[in-house]
Amino acid sequence: MTSLFTPIRLGALDLPHRVVMAPMTRNRSPGGAPNALNAEYYAQRASAGLIITEGTTPDPSGHGYIDIPGLYDARTQEGWRGVAKAVKARGGHIFVQLMHAGRISHPDFLNGEAPVAPSAVQAPGEIFTHEGPKPHGMPRALEAQEIEALVGSFGRAATLAVEAGIDGVEVHGANGYLPAQFLAPNVNRREDEWGGTIEKRARFLLAATDAAIAAVGGDRVGVRLSPGVTFNDIQDPEAEATHAHVIAELAKRPIAYLHVVDARPGWDVAGQVRRLFPGTLILNGGYDRARAEADLAAGKAEMISFGAPFIANPDLPARLREGAALNQPDKSTFYGGDARGYTDYPALAA
Ligand SMILES: Cc1cc2nc3c(=O)[nH]c(=O)nc-3n(C[C@H](O)[C@H](O)[C@H](O)COP(=O)(O)O)c2cc1C
Repeated sequence: MTSLFTPIRLGALDLPHRVVMAPMTRNRSPGGAPNALNAEYYAQRASAGLIITEGTTPDPSGHGYIDIPGLYDARTQEGWRGVAKAVKARGGHIFVQLMHAGRISHPDFLNGEAPVAPSAVQAPGEIFTHEGPKPHGMPRALEAQEIEALVGSFGRAATLAVEAGIDGVEVHGANGYLPAQFLAPNVNRREDEWGGTIEKRARFLLAATDAAIAAVGGDRVGVRLSPGVTFNDIQDPEAEATHAHVIAELAKRPIAYLHVVDARPGWDVAGQVRRLFPGTLILNGGYDRARAEADLAAGKAEMISFGAPFIANPDLPARLREGAALNQPDKSTFYGGDARGYTDYPALAA
């Protein structure tokens, strides 16, 4: 019977077990290039079967929060090279999550320019800037030509990642960032080839995925979705049908995995995805060891990702395997700061 500690082949990688580190923004890359502290953080977590990094923008227009990294030029690539080297030195495997924030941003992060989005629809609520909370920026609608260029940025970032020694990329289609903004009719009010029907709303996510596949091969590309999740003001009355289309389309592509945030109450998201996607499925959302083992044994997924538990437990796989107690994460240090709450959580004594 499959357990969390059954090895698995993922794309071209042989992984020792199925405990994945979920992508988590930590806001500790001032200037947008990963630094030595970031490399140390990921190296500490290299015993994950696979690390999926924090959201990383493939284009300067995609910086959505304070001090998040990018991957779009030699400088940012050099930062990721340092991370890859540190993780590889500990025998780990790592994909960079490509996250374009779209309208979930502010001119303060974009050299004073407006955030970009499928349509000029401002996100409600506030975003935390260097000067404190401010309303989300009023976005401007992307020109069709700019959309093509942004699709291409996912391919270019994938190439930069692999050249830097990173194992692959995850296209972030979840949680209300740019690809999810295209999927959602309340944010995407376009009437051209990029909006309107489900097929047209799904086009950006699928094209970005195809660009990454063309650049580095499907073995090195994963996709993350959050069907039905309304975070960042995503409203899609047809969410189930929208995601059924996206997942069926992804199932035709040679991707390494599909990563699903299972967080929609009252909807059997995992079951729906499993019926539509025969490839490697990673499930996420509030897992502990018992639930992870039960879902793997039931064939609901092939791997399970853990978010917050990995922040506080650099050696989470060993702790899960041994049934050891877990350190509790300190939420006050999740987003930004220094080594405190980042690289100072203790591993089990050797
Ligand atoms: C501090 C923090 C930052 C996060 N940043 C991201 C991100 O950059 N990209 C993403 O897809 N999800 C992000 N998430 C969501 C996690 O990947 C995951 O879906 C969520 O924490 C639920 O999993 P868990 O219950 O195991 O923590 C973040 C979560 C946390 C706690």
